[in-house]
Amino acid sequence: MTISISQSIESVNWTHLEDLFIRAPLGARSAALLEQTFRNSQIALFAYDDNRLIGAGRALTDKINWTVVFDVVVDPERQGRGLGKAIVEALASISGARNVMLQSVPGKENFYARLGYRPMTSAMAKYENPDWASANGYIASASSSGT
Ligand SMILES: CC(C)(COP(=O)(O)OP(=O)(O)OC[C@H]1O[C@@H](n2cnc3c(N)ncnc32)[C@H](O)[C@@H]1OP(=O)(O)O)[C@@H](O)C(=O)NCCC(=O)NCCS
Repeated sequence: MTISISQSIESVNWTHLEDLFIRAPLGARSAALLEQTFRNSQIALFAYDDNRLIGAGRALTDKINWTVVFDVVVDPERQGRGLGKAIVEALASISGARNVMLQSVPGKENFYARLGYRPMTSAMAKYENPDWASANGYIASASSSGT
């Protein structure tokens, strides 16, 4: 077993990434949409066990002050062995920015807490579909947020 983390976007099989997102689980997104979002991110990382895609993550960054991490995902058969931590730390370190922000999937906050992340007290988000985001635990309900 040889685990490697690669930035080579041209070698990614996007159908394999789609499958990884479904199995992890991190939601069903088409291979084409995943390719667009990963290609449009300044940093995109892909973890392999030999040639098998077993993890990924991406980030947007100004390379000085802030990096925002998205879509950290590890194959369920490889979870709990330090790969998720390695991906998050590599995204932060490659960006070189002083501060890192992310939004956890509800229920995965303690994974990020183990890595030193703390809840923000004033972060806000405007979703295309706020009712969906509220129902899925990403934002407060309109009634509790003063809107
Ligand atoms: C969340 C996820 C990326 C974690 O990856 P992983 O490789 O299993 O995590 P690691 O083995 O690197 O864990 C690092 C640390 O976090 C802890 N941890 C991992 N998952 C955890 C969880 N769900 N709750 C609490 N702690 C967790 C580990 O025990 C470990 O602690 P340690 O350093 O003290 O030993 C992975 O479970 C996953 O892909 N989940 C499905 C997709 C998802 O929810 N992604 C998050 C998007 S915001």
